[in-house]
Amino acid sequence: MSQDTELSPHRRRFLRQVITGSASLIAAMTLLPALGALLAPVFQRRQGRRVKLLLNSPEDVNSRAFVPARYEGQPPTAPGVFLKREADGQITALSARCTHAGCAVEWRGSERQFFCPCHQGRFDADGRNISGPPLRPLDRLSVEQDADGVFTIEEPHA
Ligand code: FES
Repeated sequence: MSQDTELSPHRRRFLRQVITGSASLIAAMTLLPALGALLAPVFQRRQGRRVKLLLNSPEDVNSRAFVPARYEGQPPTAPGVFLKREADGQITALSARCTHAGCAVEWRGSERQFFCPCHQGRFDADGRNISGPPLRPLDRLSVEQDADGVFTIEEPHA
């Protein structure tokens, strides 16, 4: 090899860094989308199917006090939902499933509390746990109402 074609150590190091950097970039561009596709389900919130909410009476749609409702397809004894229409027209929906061990809570309007008969857990009118064994509030749920006035809600997870 002639003297003219030999690379200086500095230039050789620079070229090695360029080649290594390019190879790393290509590897990252190839692997990151695949890694993202693999991990996406882990980070996505589990989306359940939406089901109809069954009210006891059509007037319950506008109740300013909590009224019970059931998930369509669930047994009548399964914990359902408590709904009420707020002054601004929004619907507040709280799960009737106690956050301690899953019993159905009941609304005690005179005390303005939810009461769980299983272990005497109590929640205030905003669903906050206030006494007994439950360590967290009742779940706040997202209810949608279609043009026909039908409420739907995400199906509860087993
Ligand atoms: S299940 Fe409700 S207090 Fe235990």
